[in-house]
Amino acid sequence: MSDTTSLQLQEDQSLKSYNTLGVDANAAQFISAESKEQLVQVLQDPENQKIRKFVLGGGSNVLFVDDFDGLVIHIAIKGIEKVKENEKHVWVRSGAGEIWHDLVLHCVEKGWGGIENLSLIPGTVGAAPIQNIGAYGVELQEVFESLEAVDIVTGETRTFFYDDCHFDYRDSIFKNELKGKQVITSVTLRLDKEPKLNTSYGAIQAKLEEKGIESPTIRDLSDVVIEIRQSKLPDPKALGNAGSFFKNPVVSKQKFEQLKADYPEIPGYPLDNDTVKVPAGWLIEETGWKGKVLGNAGTYRNQALVIVNHGGATGREILQLAQKVKASVHDVFGIDLDPEVNIIS
Ligand code: EPU
Repeated sequence: MSDTTSLQLQEDQSLKSYNTLGVDANAAQFISAESKEQLVQVLQDPENQKIRKFVLGGGSNVLFVDDFDGLVIHIAIKGIEKVKENEKHVWVRSGAGEIWHDLVLHCVEKGWGGIENLSLIPGTVGAAPIQNIGAYGVELQEVFESLEAVDIVTGETRTFFYDDCHFDYRDSIFKNELKGKQVITSVTLRLDKEPKLNTSYGAIQAKLEEKGIESPTIRDLSDVVIEIRQSKLPDPKALGNAGSFFKNPVVSKQKFEQLKADYPEIPGYPLDNDTVKVPAGWLIEETGWKGKVLGNAGTYRNQALVIVNHGGATGREILQLAQKVKASVHDVFGIDLDPEVNIIS
């Protein structure tokens, strides 16, 4: 059993360093749980059962609109271990509080393939399945084995396997029926000893060619993804942001054909015979919002889908900017953008 005596509840804690948008909201109460046992202790404390709770990982996909008038539980459960292997695969379990990119680097180092395309995605391991993180042609669900979570009311542990998670594009059961109800404590991935590399994404192919790499290793792929991300996406340490603010919308094929008549250059990726995914970044750029600044918030100059904090932006300011962007896209294209970021108000 882990030590449960070191639990320290903070009052009026600034969340500024706990969210990558760098919004200076306060939590009425704040606690960091370093083990599952500590977490259960926090949840089962009768004092805590009555109050509103929010579970925080790396804070890379959250917008605090106001101060949080409840208990923020920060998940700091660490540890990466190989739990099983056979000829083809290794199963790796990671504590929910590990930094996602540290897990990627650990696996790349060991030669275990499957998550190298997900290099440098901000946030913690525990947050990864919630929105089924994805980048450069790979989604978490492809390597997902299981996760362990604790019921936020009872403190009981439950294991979720692939079918239980209802994964979809930037979506899972933890954003829907079970939103705010289960606290993820560890995630187990099934990785390949003989990696099958995914170089399908245009930007990756171009970068590999530029570097003259013909048969890439998983480290090459990880390096290339890191390079592409660093050139396109702002580093949250230098410029507050939460990655893509909206999801890429999916429209009917008919709607897409109509749009194409007016905007012949509109990009679109058919998902099936009836639907097309359109890059929200393109839509936003087309409305003229790219690189615009409103108060202390703005859209990023190299990627219009990323909303940035130029310094001192309040959560409300960022939300107002997002609402204006959404309204412009609606007015011009008749498309409703849905936030990818978890908006807490
Ligand atoms: N585009 C523009 N202008 C912009 C931005 C994008 O015209 O300002 C167009 C370009 O045509 C570009 C296309 O949009 O080819 C797609 O852009 P990009 O490759 O940057 O990808 P994205 O669709 O904007 C998605 C994910 C990212 C992920 C990248 C790479 C979503 C919501 N976002 O972005 O994930 O890194 O693909 O796979 O699906 C995140 O979720 O926070 C995130 C950063």
